Amino acid sequence: MAYYYPEPSRTFSEYLLVPGYTSEDCRPDNVSLKAPMVRFKKGEEPALSLNVPMVSAIMQAVSGEKMAIALAKEGGVAFIFGSQSIESEAAMVSRAKAYKAGFVASDSNLKPDSTLADVLALLKITGHSTMAVTDSGTPNGKLLGLVTSRDYRVSRMSHDVKVTEFMTPVDRLITAPKNTTLKQANDIIWEHKLNALPIVGINTLDYEERVPALVEAGADILCIDSSEGFTVWQKRTLEFIRSKYGNSVKIGAGNVVDREGFLFLAEAGADFIKVGIGGGSICITREQKGIGRGQATALIEVAAARDEYFEKTGIYVPICSDGGIVLDYHMTLALAMGADFLMLGRYFARFDESPTNKLNINGTYVKEYWGEGSNRARNWQRYDLGGTSDLSFEEGVDSYVVYAGSLQDNVAKSLYKVKSTMCNCGVMSIPDLQENAKITLVSSTSIVEGGYHDVTLRSTNTTV
Ligand code: IMP
Repeated sequence: MAYYYPEPSRTFSEYLLVPGYTSEDCRPDNVSLKAPMVRFKKGEEPALSLNVPMVSAIMQAVSGEKMAIALAKEGGVAFIFGSQSIESEAAMVSRAKAYKAGFVASDSNLKPDSTLADVLALLKITGHSTMAVTDSGTPNGKLLGLVTSRDYRVSRMSHDVKVTEFMTPVDRLITAPKNTTLKQANDIIWEHKLNALPIVGINTLDYEERVPALVEAGADILCIDSSEGFTVWQKRTLEFIRSKYGNSVKIGAGNVVDREGFLFLAEAGADFIKVGIGGGSICITREQKGIGRGQATALIEVAAARDEYFEKTGIYVPICSDGGIVLDYHMTLALAMGADFLMLGRYFARFDESPTNKLNINGTYVKEYWGEGSNRARNWQRYDLGGTSDLSFEEGVDSYVVYAGSLQDNVAKSLYKVKSTMCNCGVMSIPDLQENAKITLVSSTSIVEGGYHDVTLRSTNTTV
């Protein structure tokens, strides 16, 4: 007889967090969102961590080199999509990597008496939003400060104001001495959330050719991009990587939705494991094949398996909640339920940095967003189960998402909400949240109570 789960599977929207005690120190500025990215032994530090627990989905419509650079600057990482030729994927990795691959003299320099108008003019010419203020206005002059787009508001400030009034002065900058090596500089950059870390997707078919090309191109970590990870193909891919590179190449695997799937991939050597089947916004896997599991339930079970595995072996294997995040509070919930970090597709597809077209449809700006299993992406390898490279039905749709502006502004806003919620819960780090969050299921009537109700809106501009 088939196995029947005693409980239905549930989604994030069916849960809420209940506040804990908020102390004086518990302020958003004091909250750390640092998260481990790869497996580590008890008492040791992971070889790679994230400064913010966000990674972008391994999708054509989401993660190109622009996303890799923009997201890395915020402390997260992008997984460059694998559904392209080995040559073009390796070239994309090299270009994103080149962004931080060497020291270059600044081509955007200002003098102390330069004004905001000069900043805007220079920005137009170079496209670089970070500018050095030096005593002579040349790259070799004495550094006095830096101006970035965060330092000014074009609409609110006079364009005559001098850069010295709004730049970040040198004594508040993180700098390195002249003889710093590239490796040391990169460590400093990474520690302070300024890194560009290209991360790439691979599949379980052509890995013997693709992985060496990507490693050669400088990829820092790989992930097997597949809709379903509890398979012999993933085990073989992991074995290939371990036999060729030992532990020097880091690799994630997935996706799984239960304890058994997690333990299988943890034993097979995955550095992190992705959780989620059928919950993605563009995903129709559940309708097409009837497989999957509510994202919250899947996550709760896999997080328990990860803790059990850690308890038993002393090895912590981080888990990534992949797909189905719609509202910002879903991020906090996913972390509270045990996710170490989150993979988001729709969320990032809405920003300037995603590689798709921005269109105006009936007066609304939208960006294109299509699933890897859609006819448009034709990433059949992601759905392959038998070592062939063709498939006869789609598992994703081709769609639009409402354009939302720049990644930097949106990520800052979302993470501020996450941090504020964590303060409501009385916690200041992700492990603290996972340990101490109080989570309640909500009835369908209290979900109605959660939105505005019994009032008529005066303005439709309220944003969630
Ligand atoms: P979202 O953040 O809800 O948009 O979900 C993104 C996730 O959906 C990705 O990281 C993939 O795991 C998954 N995904 C991407 N393309 C497809 C598809 O075509 N069908 C099913 N799932 C997909």
